[in-house]
Amino acid sequence: MKPIRTAIFGTGFMGRVHLEAARRVESVDVAAVVGRTDEAARRLGEGFSVPRMGRDYRDVLRDASIAAVHVCTPNAQHFSMAKDALQAGKHVLCEKPLTTSVEEAEELTSLAARQGLRNCVCHNLRYYPMVQQMRSLREAGELGDILVVQGTYSQDWLLYDTDWNWRVDAQAAGPSRCMADIGSHWFDMAEHITGMRVTSLCADLQTYHRTRKKPKGSIETFANKLMGPGDYQETPVETEDFGAVIFQMGSRTRGCMTASQVSAGRKNGLSIEIYGSRSSARWNQERPDELWVGHRDSGNAIFVKDPSLLTPTARSYADLPGGHSEGYDDTFKQVFRRFYASIGSGASPEYPQFVDGLRQLKILDAVLESHRSRKWVDVSER
Ligand SMILES: NC(=O)c1ccc[n+]([C@@H]2O[C@H](COP(=O)([O-])OP(=O)(O)OC[C@H]3O[C@@H](n4cnc5c(N)ncnc54)[C@H](O)[C@@H]3O)[C@@H](O)[C@H]2O)c1
Repeated sequence: MKPIRTAIFGTGFMGRVHLEAARRVESVDVAAVVGRTDEAARRLGEGFSVPRMGRDYRDVLRDASIAAVHVCTPNAQHFSMAKDALQAGKHVLCEKPLTTSVEEAEELTSLAARQGLRNCVCHNLRYYPMVQQMRSLREAGELGDILVVQGTYSQDWLLYDTDWNWRVDAQAAGPSRCMADIGSHWFDMAEHITGMRVTSLCADLQTYHRTRKKPKGSIETFANKLMGPGDYQETPVETEDFGAVIFQMGSRTRGCMTASQVSAGRKNGLSIEIYGSRSSARWNQERPDELWVGHRDSGNAIFVKDPSLLTPTARSYADLPGGHSEGYDDTFKQVFRRFYASIGSGASPEYPQFVDGLRQLKILDAVLESHRSRKWVDVSER
């Protein structure tokens, strides 16, 4: 089969992760990389022998041989890049959060449908094999009725007021930081595993650093430990460092979660715990090959990833034998493989689509509204 030619927009953390993962997928050819500058595009693309490198994504959209694009730029740029790409007839794989507002996400979702193009929002964390195993346990009824869903996504990289990133700036990231950046992954996973929807919620957000020290030089070359007082300017911050949400999933199921970027020692501490009427399950991203299963009347167990022991669905996300860990990088490969299969062979889209990105924007909107109004907010009709 002729490889599908694709392009990567953005050359930072995600640009590299997407490029490496796309290179691991059958029948995909990364034909172009777009950076903020020609130099940035070259820095990433050259070593991978990408034939086309530049700074204007519109040039790439004019190339009829390119069928798909990956949008890996700061959040506020997702909307225009994805919209232009869809209008140019490209299939789009966009990083999360899909956009910075519900209205924009609605527009992209209906545009993709009108154009008949494949669309994916990168909620890749669903595709750890043991997250899929947890979902399979729930589907098989082994947990019973779900009573409680709880957990956190906690990091420490924005703990100090000298820590800076475009995510701090609402112009680049949107009105929410911590909840949009990592809370959205948590809620996507909670709804995916349980098969239930959050129906109402009550949120409390906190910004510990009302000002931060923004480096005067380029953020990409920022090395905060080497900065002197003349190297930065005190900058007001509007986005939250921490969020706590209690929520309902229908009339019976209850949950709570926190998201934090100021929790010393937690790097990517996403944990999710589901307590059912028969048994429980807990998964933690920092030990991805393990699934804790809890029982009331017999011993608890730690189920270690081994494809031969997984359900058929979970096994389809595990490419390596037991004892060889499968981690963060591999989740992208699993998403991209399914995305490109849906383009190349017309396979059904078994990955999060723009409509799932829209769903997360609606939850986020409710979180912000609840925090502002100090009230519960209904999400069922959103
Ligand atoms: N799925 C995940 O697990 C995950 C993890 C991290 C980030 N993300 C998402 O990925 C996106 C990018 O985040 P990141 O951590 O890679 O940020 P980053 O700052 O490391 O990279 C962003 C890159 O985009 C480039 N850029 C900015 N404007 C551009 C333009 N007009 N054209 C081309 N390039 C441009 C910047 O120069 C930078 O290199 C964000 O939306 C973020 O939420 C997702």
